[in-house]
Amino acid sequence: MKTPVITIDGPAASGKGTLAKRLAEKLGFYYLDSGAIYRLVALKMLQAGLNPDDELAAAKTARDFISGFDASQIANPDIRTQQVSDAASRSSRFSGVRSALMEIQRKVAHTPPTPFKGAVLEGRDMGTVVAPEADVKIFLTASPEARAQRRTKELLSRGEKTTYEAVLQDLKERDERDSTREVAPLRPAQDAATVDTSGMDADAALAHVLDLVRKRLTKTA
Ligand code: DC
Repeated sequence: MKTPVITIDGPAASGKGTLAKRLAEKLGFYYLDSGAIYRLVALKMLQAGLNPDDELAAAKTARDFISGFDASQIANPDIRTQQVSDAASRSSRFSGVRSALMEIQRKVAHTPPTPFKGAVLEGRDMGTVVAPEADVKIFLTASPEARAQRRTKELLSRGEKTTYEAVLQDLKERDERDSTREVAPLRPAQDAATVDTSGMDADAALAHVLDLVRKRLTKTA
């Protein structure tokens, strides 16, 4: 039987990480944070003193990274800084980087590790490129202001020095870069359900999406 796959795509700080993780826990599915993989490549570039706008260096870093990848690296807190966010948004626009990272993402989608019964894939192009055959596709969004408020709170609580204005500006730049790039731009899949979480807290967003997912999975079962 085919493993059920749910994709959650959306812009930075739309709440998709928290939502995807909790959804996966509720359903007993594996959770893949694809942004973390792009961030790990960006971190490697910064640590090596490479420029994330350098296409050849980015593609080579991604290929080298894959050969030594292990899922525990995703927990590295150093990938969550604003500097790495910016670098990941830059290096992820190159096709050489995206193709190098495609295989591990598809592998998880088709054969999640035991004992998981399915997979929740979170990112920018999960429903459009990585798993276009997914059973349920959600496009999670929120206004730039609501997202900037959430991200500012998160960064300050981790001790990073920033302001709401700086975060808002950074989010707008990332949105622009992520949605206008030539390869796998951020956009909702044609068959995705769009959920705007501007006026919802994390619990309300989870309840709403869980309801939607259960209805769709029952239909496709
Ligand atoms: O979801 P995130 O903020 O952790 O992602 C960091 C960057 O990685 C984001 O700005 C664009 C890139 N990314 C991507 O290009 N494709 C994905 N599926 C996930 C993230």
